[in-house]
Amino acid sequence: MNYRELLDKAKEVSQNAYVPYSKFKVGACVLTEDDSTFCGCNFENASYGLTICAERNAIGTAIANGHTRIKAIAIYSPNEDNCFPCGACRQVMTEFRAGGDMDIVTEVKGEPQIYKLSYLMPESFKL
Ligand code: THU
Repeated sequence: MNYRELLDKAKEVSQNAYVPYSKFKVGACVLTEDDSTFCGCNFENASYGLTICAERNAIGTAIANGHTRIKAIAIYSPNEDNCFPCGACRQVMTEFRAGGDMDIVTEVKGEPQIYKLSYLMPESFKL
């Protein structure tokens, strides 16, 4: 599974985003240590604060399927090039890094762009 394919999965699931309030669709796909993939999209609620981001939905799906070590996560939004994860999702990603770091893959002008989680979330909280 290369990062182009991972982004394509994120793109596909972004179509299922439930976003009647923001209209901002996001899809995410995680790549686990053993090369399994799990996708998620954002879904909103009339009680706005209950919204779940695509990244945390994808990570939760991986966990529900028994995978807690994540090598990479692709994030795609049809609304925005280079769609970055919010701070809450960066903190959640920190918990499930495989081998101490994680690749965050976005799309810029149609091409995969790779950032290290350690770059996007330095000095994160850990126990
Ligand atoms: N959103 C995500 O899915 N991931 C992020 O990292 C940031 C924001 C969603 C939440 C909400 O449905 C919409 O984008 C606008 O904030």
